[in-house]
Amino acid sequence: MKALVLSGGKGTRLRPLTHTMAKQLVPVACKPILGYVMDHISEAGIRDVGIIISPETGEEVKRYIGTGKRWALKVRYILQPEPLGLAHAVKTAEDFLGDDDFVMYLGDNLLSYGIKEARKRFEKERPDALIYLKEVDNPGQFGVAELKRDGSIKRLIEKPAEPPSNLALVGVYIFSKRIHEAISRIRPSRRGELEITDAIQELIDMGYPVKSEILDGWWLDTGKKDDLLQANSIVLDEYIVRSIKGRVDRRSEVTGRVDIEKGARVVNSRIRGPVKIGKKAVIENSFVGPYTSIGEAVVIKDSVIEHSVILDGSHIIGIERLEDSLIGRSATVMKNSSQHKAYRLMIGDDTIVEV
Ligand code: G1P
Repeated sequence: MKALVLSGGKGTRLRPLTHTMAKQLVPVACKPILGYVMDHISEAGIRDVGIIISPETGEEVKRYIGTGKRWALKVRYILQPEPLGLAHAVKTAEDFLGDDDFVMYLGDNLLSYGIKEARKRFEKERPDALIYLKEVDNPGQFGVAELKRDGSIKRLIEKPAEPPSNLALVGVYIFSKRIHEAISRIRPSRRGELEITDAIQELIDMGYPVKSEILDGWWLDTGKKDDLLQANSIVLDEYIVRSIKGRVDRRSEVTGRVDIEKGARVVNSRIRGPVKIGKKAVIENSFVGPYTSIGEAVVIKDSVIEHSVILDGSHIIGIERLEDSLIGRSATVMKNSSQHKAYRLMIGDDTIVEV
């Protein structure tokens, strides 16, 4: 079995972060989402991985993944010149995939547990597609499945205006070579894309077996700020163990599950887990509260922060209370200490500031 990881696309919902970075590289608990995807593929015993990249963000993705050796994977990059849909991405990868079974994993999807069990089930039952479903509050934003009374699939529809159920298609699929035949028979959707949902529906119409499973763990489609904060909280909750490799001075207090990486410094501060602090970050005269991830070389001084994600290289100085916030790379948030009371802002496109 091979793996096809989709790491192209534009990431419009995560702007402004995705003006300058691939959505799959946005970190959750200081690790790019794509890193968790690669972990899951490797754990399932798959070795050959094709990664679909776009002209805009391909280089950045390559820089992070490299040869794939870190995950004991052999990676081939496949350029999709235009974002013409998930099924179009499979078409683009036809040479790489050949006649093999493959798992297709969307690089911005985060799953609580990996794909080991799904692989086992696929290889035992040998359907032509195995899909995962999950109940969501906003099914209209996903592919949606309607099931028959016996639990088998009646039909699949991409982003329906009137969803027939609240069961969304999760961005992990396992296919046999028959999917190529189905893709060759479908037409672009209203949004102008070749939809994988339509291709799976085509498999059903052609009479091939398609199986589904309702996911009982969590699944996060890290689309928006609040989704990302939620993903960060869940991952910190599940994965963080206490590990202090950085330096903590005597005046500081570190309680609970806190992971402080090498080269980071905590000076006269209180940290209450779960918290992750990246390499070379400096926390001084501050309080960092639960569910916060602090990236590499971030500086936090004279501030109180909770339930937030601060990406690499940013500075937070003199902020009394920062909560529920997502701060991009190399940004500065600081108190204006002059007599003249005014907000002085220089913010990027598509930014939200609540004062
Ligand atoms: C894609 C699929 C959709 C699926 C979703 C999961 O949507 O088209 O069926 O439910 O991924 O993340 P897109 O990210 O293209 O909006």
